[in-house]
Amino acid sequence: MKTVYVDGKFLPWDKAVIPVDDLAVLRGYAVCDIIKTIAGRPYCLDAHIDRLLSSVTQIGLTPAWTKEEIKEIVFKVLEKNAHMDKANIRILVTGGSSPDFFIPADNPRLIVLITDIPALPAHWYTKGVKVITFVQQRALPDAKATNYIPAVLALKEARAQGAVEALYMTRDKMVLEGTTSNLFALVEGTLITPGKGVLKGITRKTILALGKKLFPVSEQDLSLDTLLSASEAFITGTNKGIVPVIQVDDHIIGTGKPGRGTRALMSAMADQRGNG
Ligand SMILES: Cc1ncc(COP(=O)(O)O)c(C=O)c1O
Repeated sequence: MKTVYVDGKFLPWDKAVIPVDDLAVLRGYAVCDIIKTIAGRPYCLDAHIDRLLSSVTQIGLTPAWTKEEIKEIVFKVLEKNAHMDKANIRILVTGGSSPDFFIPADNPRLIVLITDIPALPAHWYTKGVKVITFVQQRALPDAKATNYIPAVLALKEARAQGAVEALYMTRDKMVLEGTTSNLFALVEGTLITPGKGVLKGITRKTILALGKKLFPVSEQDLSLDTLLSASEAFITGTNKGIVPVIQVDDHIIGTGKPGRGTRALMSAMADQRGNG
């Protein structure tokens, strides 16, 4: 059984619990981050913990652990689950228990879970996927809060329409990001990704760095019309790498197949981290 860390203790998975008065339970008040391990080593650990600590501050909590302390706990969790070659590390910081069940009382809880990585269908990468647009904006876009209620609703709608991801879109039809992914489009040879109102994904950062070697790159607002005119589009995330997008709602993107630019980035990424 997997060993995880909850609020100061390493525990077997089935004993890992938090009190029901934690603000994460009562108010959905918590942040998280998810890190992939490759050959037993966490990928981009520093960047993920920096983002976690930034999320903690953005929701108005005072970080109770240093980056080094969190890293040490992550490495201990990995050590205690040494049989897992590939895994997802999920770090959560909850609001903690609060006397008035509302305002945090400076006693956040730290949780470090380790889970298997769900396999994604190979055809997503070879044939590309459909995504839908969904009018929604996240309240604190650059914080990774655990509140994924809009995401669940959007993804259910996506599945109902035969799509694998939903892209959040403003009321005036500016596309932002997916429920668990960032969005890129190749428009007239320039690689564009929305610059505002999105989570600054760790994969997004890698793609921006790799992309610069291949195309002009621009972080800018992206309208739905521009996205639909793109020759290629793709979504990115820790759990999915790069997934080519060949359809947005009822519109086919480019040739309807994963394009050359997307494939070049997929192989550059695979060279860098050992997967797509
Ligand atoms: C809303 C949102 N945008 C983007 C991403 C992609 O970020 P990353 O590449 O760090 O996984 C995620 C990941 O879960 C997300 O939840």
